[in-house]
Amino acid sequence: MVEPIHVTRAFMPPIEEYNALVAEVWASGQLTNQGALALRLEAALDHTLGAQGTLLAGNGTIAIQLAIKALGLKGEVITTPYSYAATTTSLIWEGLTPVFADIDPLTFCLDPALIEERITTRTSAILATHVYGIPCDVEAIEAIAHAHHLKVIYDAAHGYGTTYKGRGLATYGDISTLSFHATKLFHTAEGGAMVARDPAVRDQLKLLRSFGHIGDEHFAAGVNGKNSELHAAMGLAVLPHMRTVMERRKEQWCAYAEMMRGADLQVLTIPAGTEFNHAYFPIVLRDGGIREHVALAMNAQGIFPRRYFYPSLDRLPYVHPSGHCPISNSVAERVLCLPLYHPLSTNDQQLVVDVLLNAL
Ligand SMILES: Cc1ncc(COP(=O)(O)O)c(C=O)c1O
Repeated sequence: MVEPIHVTRAFMPPIEEYNALVAEVWASGQLTNQGALALRLEAALDHTLGAQGTLLAGNGTIAIQLAIKALGLKGEVITTPYSYAATTTSLIWEGLTPVFADIDPLTFCLDPALIEERITTRTSAILATHVYGIPCDVEAIEAIAHAHHLKVIYDAAHGYGTTYKGRGLATYGDISTLSFHATKLFHTAEGGAMVARDPAVRDQLKLLRSFGHIGDEHFAAGVNGKNSELHAAMGLAVLPHMRTVMERRKEQWCAYAEMMRGADLQVLTIPAGTEFNHAYFPIVLRDGGIREHVALAMNAQGIFPRRYFYPSLDRLPYVHPSGHCPISNSVAERVLCLPLYHPLSTNDQQLVVDVLLNAL
């Protein structure tokens, strides 16, 4: 029986390296509440993300919710319709109204040219996703936010390892949030992080992450947004392998691009100034019928690409229609993310592309 080729597989560090870190947890007896390993991972992430004061979180979703709370957002937030559902649901859970502006047809990130027409007196922020690890047009978004006194949160769930103009992607905006879910390039099994520009906002995030109190003094209605020492151990075991993982990922990404050169489909456009992390390999087919046909042909060969991202978030059943997002709807209908993970062999990549080209 041939092994199925799924869209992703978590990177598993050598078990002895994980066990050695877990032994430290046993020795300390501290399982959570910002123990030595969590602090060590935060410091190491500062280094790799080029950030200051990285704060670990329980996951990438609670990181967005904490960011919303720490910035005191109210009313409407202009956001991308092309992302994972968590980007939108975080707004809704915090009682905010998502207002969707359409995406750029090449980068699939929020199109800054469409943001201003959505701004009202109720708008408090922009929440944009660096989708697939591709940078949003951060300069244009910054200029709009500045002109209209809006806060900016970047959902950088996919952004680990990308730099833009020499700066780690997670250092842009008032707050950037990351996901370290097992499916992500860098992971802690479950987990996430927040990077804030302003030290006062960072302190607020820290407070809200731990129920809003310090010792017996209660300052704000917080939440449990922490992560555990066991998750930090996984992160510290994975981190030393990230250079190898990213080098291999780039080779795999470029191999896919080369193998399907000239095919009737769209691949990612990487903006100038970007050192891309090559986290994902989405293809956008000519129409939804072809996408369905390609997916079925792959499934028949044990290959399981995913519809990242579908549906366009303005179509979620619990969202009030706002804005008109034809590009996002069209891409969501036609997209498939191809299998891409560390142990994926070149032979398996060739099989994926052979099935794709045959189906086309
Ligand atoms: C764009 C985006 N935002 C947010 C999340 C939520 O992250 P988590 O699963 O760590 O809560 C994810 C992925 O899971 C994502 O892809």
